[in-house]
This record gives sequence, C-alpha cells and structure tokens, in this order.
Amino acid sequence: MNLTMIGTGYVGLVSGAGLADFGMNVICVDKEEQRIRKLLTGHIPFYEPGLEELVTRNVKNGRLTFTTDLRMAVKRSLVIFIAVGTPDNGRGETDLSQVKEVAGDLSQLIDDYKVVVMKSTVPVGTNRWIKEAIQKSLRKNISVDVVSNPEFLREGSAIEDFMRPNRVVLGSDNVNALAILKDIYRSLYLIETPFVLTNLETAELIKYASNAFLATKISFINEVANLCEKVGADVHQVAKAMGLDKRIGPKFLHPGPGFGGSCFPKDTAAFAHLGEATGSPLRIVESVISVNTEQRTKMIEKIETGLGSIAEKTIGVLGLSFKPNTDDVRESPALDIVRSLLEKGAEIKAYDPAGIEEFKRIFGDQKICYCRDAYSVAKGAHALVILTEWNEFRNLDLQKITTLLAQPVIFDLRNIYDPAKTAELGLTHIGVGRGA
Ligand code: UDX
Repeated sequence: MNLTMIGTGYVGLVSGAGLADFGMNVICVDKEEQRIRKLLTGHIPFYEPGLEELVTRNVKNGRLTFTTDLRMAVKRSLVIFIAVGTPDNGRGETDLSQVKEVAGDLSQLIDDYKVVVMKSTVPVGTNRWIKEAIQKSLRKNISVDVVSNPEFLREGSAIEDFMRPNRVVLGSDNVNALAILKDIYRSLYLIETPFVLTNLETAELIKYASNAFLATKISFINEVANLCEKVGADVHQVAKAMGLDKRIGPKFLHPGPGFGGSCFPKDTAAFAHLGEATGSPLRIVESVISVNTEQRTKMIEKIETGLGSIAEKTIGVLGLSFKPNTDDVRESPALDIVRSLLEKGAEIKAYDPAGIEEFKRIFGDQKICYCRDAYSVAKGAHALVILTEWNEFRNLDLQKITTLLAQPVIFDLRNIYDPAKTAELGLTHIGVGRGA
C-alpha cells in the first residue's frame, strides 16, 4: 500500500520510517527543500537512537522516499498521514496554522477517495473540522474519510514505542477507513497490541488525557518530594512503596526539576484551555501546570540556599536537554534554571552529550562556557548541578569530581546518586525530596 506522510519532523519521520518497516511504501513530504535534500543524502535532522539505521534500511529496500512534491505523493497514495507541528501559540492554545495549510492543500489536490490520518496532537473537534473543510471543496462524486491516530512516542525511545506500542488508538466515523488503518498496522495486530477503535473526538481526547495524567504523576511526586524535605522523609522510598501498589504503578514518579519537552507543557496547557473554553474546567491539570512552573523556581532557590549566594560563583551544569537520549531542549528546565543563575550573577560552565548545539540555538549568545565533558565542567566550579539524567552522568568518578571542584557541592536534581555514598567522599549532596 502507498502512503504519504506530510511532515518530516519528529513524529512524521519516526512514523514514516516505522510504517515502511511494516512493509508499506511511504512517501515522506516536507515543504522545506533543504530538509528533504538532507534526508535524501541520509542526514537525519535530529538525534534519535536507532532512527538513522531504520531510515537507511528502508530507503535501501525502496520502501521509503522523500520529496517536496505533495501533488505527486497524494496522487500515488490511498492514505495520507498528517504529522505537522501544532505548537503552543503563546496563550496556551494550539497553533493550527500548519494543519490548516495542509488541509487547504489537500482539498486542492485530492481527486479520488483518500483516507486522511491525523498524527499531530490537535484539539478536540479539529479532525471533524478537517473532514468538513476538505470534503466541501471536493467534486461531488469524491469522498474523504478522516481518522484520528494520535502518537504516543517518547523522544529517546521513539522507535521502540512505534514498533511495540502499549496501544494503537484509531478514531473515525467510517468503518471502511478504520479497516484500512488496521490493515496498515497489521504487524502490531500480530504481536497482540491492543487496538482502541472509537470516534474522532474520543481519540483526540485520549491523547490529551494520557499526557495530562502522566504530567499529573510528575507534579504530584514533585510536591511530595518538597514535603519530604520539610518533614525528614525520603521521596525515593515513598515513590517506591507507592509504586508497588499495582493500581498506582512505579512509573513517572521520579521527582526532579519538573517536566519539559515538546509535548507535556504544550498539551497540558491546551487541555486546560479546552476545559476552560467548554465550561468544564480541568482544575487538576491547571494545578499540574503551576506546580511544574514553581518546581523550577524551587530548584533555583535550592541552589541559592545551598551556596549562600550565587553572584560571582562558577556553577557547572550537567545536562541541557529536557531528558536523556535526545538533543531536544524545548521547554527544558535547563533553559529557565540557567537563565536565572546567569541573572543572579553566576558564571556558567555546561556540558550535554547531545543538546549543546540546540541549547545555543534557543538560548542565544548568552555567556556560557560549553565544555567537552563532565570533568571539564567540574574543574574550578563552586558547585555541580545535574539537570538531566544521562547515563554518562550516572557513573562519574566522584572522587575525581570532588578534587576538581572548588567547593565539593553537588545539586543532584535528578537524584541519581546515593547521598550516603557521596558523603563518604566529603561531597555535599543536595537532592530533591531526600529529607531523611
Ligand atoms: C511524552 C509522552 O511520554 C509521550 O507518550 C507523548 O506522545 C509525547 O510526550 P516525551 O516528551 O518524549 O514523551 O518525554 P517523557 O519521557 O514522557 O518525559 C517528559 C518529561 O517528564 C521530561 O522532562 C522528563 O524528565 C519528565 N519526567 C518524566 C519526570 O520529571 N519524572 C518522571 O518520572 C518522568
């Protein structure tokens, strides 16, 4: 079956290459010529473990191609996936301009029955609007069906998530369209992946509710961690014991500087906005958002209290990306924390295994000394701050770090070190929620 994937960003490229691996012929389309030119020469525009191999393998076997020619791609395809950006418009609402542009293009180009599948995260009601918008401008004897097929890919493990998802959600009013999609995902049927077949609105809502619930777990444990510090409890043991209750589960109960990335901040904001706009406020989600913002401030206060003052101190920062195994720094806690430390007069040295270039691009020309590894960061610094739990930060030679630091203090904001062990080295360890 021939498919078109519109958008070669994170979701589009992973999904396009993944569907090609499932045996589909996938034409990936992007209007950015330079991006397509790079993809044609095997250059992946962002860091995602395993993606380069997946793309190369499927380009070689002829099932994955890249083009800027949407007309040709639409003509050849029965199914057209939309995976374009739906960023926050700055007011907590979703900017749908790219989705609307694609819908406009499709209404001009479609001249035969097509199934349009939405992968981008869009507010409830968008897919129905798209169906009506496209259908309105088609000739009378042509029809389109629209399917909402939200993605649940985590950056850093997106290939695994695509190949072995917890579930596939397909929303549509048309059984024929759902049957075509089930056929596309047949490989997942064979490994007994649960399929949720539902209507458009339910599928759209499932995505927001899932992300908001995960974000709720994070903000919840961050508040509990802050309380642990006040009462002399250890949040790790609290989270572990909570997680042993199967109804709660152990995942997403790791305290830290708060969630970031391209999804949770934007999706929780859009979900809260939907609640407000429909007169059915989502008070819990609203609190999750404010707790997350406050958590970053709390981390800065923690550093300030721990060091006495920040002015004229050299602070070493380990980790800039919003989580490990990605170069993505969008909404990363590092952006707010580093900015604030600079404003308070600190000198910043920083290292990240993949995110330095992206950090520079978003952060601008501010004075930061970027280093080649964790030890160069530690050298002469008054404190080390761990912001992202990259594997290479989990096994640092702490003896060496202690001698390199001007002051043996480590703010372990991802709780990757055991305070008892760091104490043996004479290293002051300040974690999150480790009041015990
Ligand atoms: C998320 C969802 O997991 C995925 O299903 C969705 O489709 C896209 O958004 P992603 O943004 O890649 O994926 O990252 P995720 O692993 O979910 O982490 C999000 C943020 O939460 C990160 O900043 C991470 O550091 C933070 N986090 C996660 C915590 O602070 N504590 C945790 O216990 C888990």
